[in-house]
Amino acid sequence: MDLEVLNDSSESEVGSYFVANYPPFSVWSKNDISAAIEAIDSPAPTDAKGKTAPLGLYLHIPFCRKRCHFCYFRVYTGKNSSDIENYLEALATETALYADREALKGREFDFVYFGGGTPSYLSGDQLKRLIEKISKHWKWDHAREVTFECEPGTLKKSKLEAIKAIGVTRLSVGVEHFDDEILETGGRAHKSAEVFRAYDWVREVGFPQVNIDLIAGMIGETQAKWEDAVAKAIKLDPDSITIYQMEIPHNTTIARGIKDDGQASPIASWRQRRAWADYALCQFESAGYVINGAYTVVKPERNAGFIYRDALWQGADMIGTGVASFSHLSGVHYQNADKWEGYVDPLNRGELPLSRAHRVSDRERLTREVVLQLKLGEIPVDYFQQKFGEDILQVFAAPIASLERDGFATSKGGKVSLTRAGLLRVDALLPRFFDPKYTDIRYT
Ligand SMILES: C[S@@+](CC[C@H](N)C(=O)[O-])C[C@H]1O[C@@H](n2cnc3c(N)ncnc32)[C@H](O)[C@@H]1O
Repeated sequence: MDLEVLNDSSESEVGSYFVANYPPFSVWSKNDISAAIEAIDSPAPTDAKGKTAPLGLYLHIPFCRKRCHFCYFRVYTGKNSSDIENYLEALATETALYADREALKGREFDFVYFGGGTPSYLSGDQLKRLIEKISKHWKWDHAREVTFECEPGTLKKSKLEAIKAIGVTRLSVGVEHFDDEILETGGRAHKSAEVFRAYDWVREVGFPQVNIDLIAGMIGETQAKWEDAVAKAIKLDPDSITIYQMEIPHNTTIARGIKDDGQASPIASWRQRRAWADYALCQFESAGYVINGAYTVVKPERNAGFIYRDALWQGADMIGTGVASFSHLSGVHYQNADKWEGYVDPLNRGELPLSRAHRVSDRERLTREVVLQLKLGEIPVDYFQQKFGEDILQVFAAPIASLERDGFATSKGGKVSLTRAGLLRVDALLPRFFDPKYTDIRYT
């Protein structure tokens, strides 16, 4: 048996590999909420030039037409229009509550992200009213990027015009696949015809950057269907493409089928999913895209990028608003209440709905940036020397040596670079860099 197969069998099917933050969410606790409040109410730290970190805003719009069987985000499918109004009111209140706090006084948003759920579930009017309320306290006229996630079947030309009017610069369309049977089986709310229809409007309305999301290894995936999906994505000619490998996180419909009902996993092995992701990367490279991290390809001549991701991975501050959202401010991570009432009720009383937090130590800050930036495919040694005064080749000598030994990375020329094999499984490799006390615990 070759090493690949051994590795594959040691990877369990249900559970998340995707590393979105560090330390793991499971160690954030109620006890550190006071540290979050203190960070919000203290002046933001400045660098040697007296500048504060870039500041971002995340807005969680937790509504969807249907819940995808593989979805692990906090989303609601049965809310009526008055629930949605109440939620948007709470969201506006939340941004207002931050406006004059000490850490945020006088700062503007450098990047904004409307995520979900499905932000494009909102009508043009709902969106306009939300932005009007937020704009009473905040500006994002100078934001370098405003991303907005869409589900193709929710789009109309007039809605896209409304989305453009609020300053969206990067429209991200959740295509996932072009095969109607695969879309149906995955529980997606749209079919391929809606993708093509929406995409024409997207181009007519015109956005500085259009991204599409694809997932390698959805239920029913075959080599032929995946090749067809990749070819169709190239034909749409988006400015960037995100290619996720299908995960089966614990709280999804698919995971419950496997765990509770003893069903066989309907998803191809990790080895197969990586092979499909690799195929896509090769095809996209041949079509003129450049690899920009483990899951992204971009057309560089169109200035396509992902500022939100890059800023966060370099330690930017970000206010995460909405139910279950994550924030990072002045070296403290924190999360909002992850249930509807727990989120809305405190805001109705004029309080922030914080549920857990973690004050990040200097060493954790270093590890966090190392693991997140490794997902880009390489990390420069001098960046960490300048920012943290640490030589990562020494601090992380053991995990780097283990990656080199396994053929997943090389360390030369002042940087640690992942090989293609390493890039394709980067999230599964990152725990090697974790503090041992965080390696054998639940991640979320
Ligand atoms: C937060 S979702 C929002 C998508 C949007 N609501 C839509 O319907 O198009 C963002 C992206 O995460 C990816 N994603 C969601 N669940 C996933 C899973 N279990 N495994 C891999 N990728 C996933 C999908 O590509 C999706 O487009």
